[in-house]
Amino acid sequence: MKSEKLILLTLILFIFSCNEKEKRKDWQPVANGIWKYTVGTEEKLNPLKAADAKPNLEKLKSFPSIEFPFAKDLINITKENHKTFIRLPLDDEEQIYGFGLQFKNINHRSKIYNLRVDHYGGRDNGRTHAPVPFYVSSKGYGVLINSASYITAYVGSSVRIDSRNKPPVYDRNTDKNWDPQPKSDVVELLIPAENVEIIVFNAETTLDVVRKYNLYCGGGYLPPKWGLGFTYRTHTLYSSVEVENEVQEFKKNGFPLDFIGLEPGWMNRSYPCSYEWDEERFPNPEEFVKRLLNKGVKTNLWINPYIAPKAKLHEKMLPYAGSHSVWNGIVPDYTMEAPRKLFIDFYKKNQLDIGVSGLKIDEVDGYDNWLWPDLATFPSGVSAEKMRQIYGLLLQDMVADLYHENNRRTYGLVRASNAGAAHLPFVLYNDYYNHRDFITALINSGFSGLLWTPEVRQSATGEEWLRRMQSVCFSPMAMINAWSSGTKPWSYPEVYKEVKEVALLRMQLLPYIYSTFADYHFNGTPPIRPMQLLGNFSMKEISVKGDLDDTENPYEMALKNELKDQYMFGENILVAPVFTGETFRNVVLPKGKWYDFYSGEFAGEDEIIQVEAKLEEIPLFVKDGGIIPMIAPDLHAPQKDEDLPLEIKYYGKAPGSFLLYDDDGETFNYEKGDFSWTRLKVENSETQNGELEKIEGEYFGYSDISWKFMTK
Ligand code: GAL
Repeated sequence: MKSEKLILLTLILFIFSCNEKEKRKDWQPVANGIWKYTVGTEEKLNPLKAADAKPNLEKLKSFPSIEFPFAKDLINITKENHKTFIRLPLDDEEQIYGFGLQFKNINHRSKIYNLRVDHYGGRDNGRTHAPVPFYVSSKGYGVLINSASYITAYVGSSVRIDSRNKPPVYDRNTDKNWDPQPKSDVVELLIPAENVEIIVFNAETTLDVVRKYNLYCGGGYLPPKWGLGFTYRTHTLYSSVEVENEVQEFKKNGFPLDFIGLEPGWMNRSYPCSYEWDEERFPNPEEFVKRLLNKGVKTNLWINPYIAPKAKLHEKMLPYAGSHSVWNGIVPDYTMEAPRKLFIDFYKKNQLDIGVSGLKIDEVDGYDNWLWPDLATFPSGVSAEKMRQIYGLLLQDMVADLYHENNRRTYGLVRASNAGAAHLPFVLYNDYYNHRDFITALINSGFSGLLWTPEVRQSATGEEWLRRMQSVCFSPMAMINAWSSGTKPWSYPEVYKEVKEVALLRMQLLPYIYSTFADYHFNGTPPIRPMQLLGNFSMKEISVKGDLDDTENPYEMALKNELKDQYMFGENILVAPVFTGETFRNVVLPKGKWYDFYSGEFAGEDEIIQVEAKLEEIPLFVKDGGIIPMIAPDLHAPQKDEDLPLEIKYYGKAPGSFLLYDDDGETFNYEKGDFSWTRLKVENSETQNGELEKIEGEYFGYSDISWKFMTK
């Protein structure tokens, strides 16, 4: 009996000392305003490692130094039953953003997410294409759980009995203040692993927190110029002749086209895949790709990772396959060098070397019934769960490396991602198709170092087609995906004029868009900026003008709810997409004066305005002093060594400046300094004079500069 007591006591002491040990470790500064805490020991594999994210320490140094964002003793980290429990403080007024690609909510406070790579099923529950375990607080700090395990996040939804700020207790029988979800003062995270890395980011503004996160992940990707033009994905079974005819049709119709996507039919077998050209539909791939290139059009190829038994790669890849198949194809373990090399060598020889510009990496996001089960095993010993969380990252990184080695920039599509992806050359898409939710996803992508395209596939009416086209042109990838519908830009003739206009507007804006992405790359600034990241922006302070009534307040929704249907496209343009059926919409204009993009007229300031939903225009607003460099409408993005006339539009009255970036638009020579930054500025709008000031570098593809003062 005595010895049993002793054993029990020792056991209790041991458990206690394990928990204490976690508490006694300290947060290691890893960069300016960034700290890391390792629970247990460093993991061999986590999302940042899978993405090969290399922090831009040099740039991070340029932020002002700052303290840890909250008292460290408010953090609680314990290990229980081989799991890690993390508790972090949350203030009463704090809002929580991030958590990757979510479609319905922007503020995640009081939500519970099971962060798992998956198809999006119509509900924000954590199962999504990019469930990034990174959150940003409205107080100006961020937290990343750099773990490839399935993480459960209780985002201010749980109330402990020892809570710091106990919520009031109400009697439901008699008190209408009773709340089914009493206010919580913690974010709690459950990670089914003993080794976990936690990274905390602090900065003076919420936008700087996101910048730091992006820079910590290597800085955002700078796409080639052609990647920012227009792209079209052809019907899945098109042959080379049909694709070339399509390209011809684009030209005939005067519709821009920079790259064209071939869907599964380019291969001789798909689901599972061979990665071999189909000899009947594509008898001479090399000539085909070359002919398109001569017409200024690049080729992008669809793949999924599962290799068919009859594929040439199959036998060599088999020793590196996981225990389970997907659609009867083997699943290579791309955490290992040998299968990476096999894929890369094959792709280089058969696709990259003949001029293919990139890939659409499909089906890397699970859906439980199709993917490998959680009990699958992989030769490297990486668990099925972790493999699922990082598989999209592994493929993105592999392809990114190859193009980098060949000094060619790529820009493609992927259906799954995770933390660390900012520097990777891929844009997320999916099969879900709700226009409003697509815009919320676009906004959310800006908090988590992701790029998302609200791709256009088909529509019930011409109006819907136009509204979708208008918003996709203000996203990281302007794309029609006609793999199944076979739609063309002109499929709805009643709106073709307007569709073409917005696509050409995108082409005109390329100098502005390209500079916006350079800001993403060099400074970490997200190209799609949620309104919540703007300085001084608070929905509470926005004034509501006009007579309002309690029961039918048209602004009530906008005021009460989170702002999830408008965003900043770069620094100067506020985009307020219109959805089918709308004849007007509310637009929340933050502090400072705002001007209509098309007319230059004053639109409002620090208020909610109602704008008429004109069919031919997506509402766009430019901030006071906003400068927007534009080129003439063209069917292709600017080519290397092209010298183009530049028209610079200026809005409002305030002094303004914009940093215009340029380089060859195709290679990685900018890494060796072959680029330029030029400041475009207006000091006094009365003079109607704008100036150019060389800041850095020589490369500059513009001449014949003219200024247009839009506000009379
Ligand atoms: C889907 C994908 C579509 C299209 C299709 C081709 O999984 O989301 O965009 O590529 O596969 O089979």
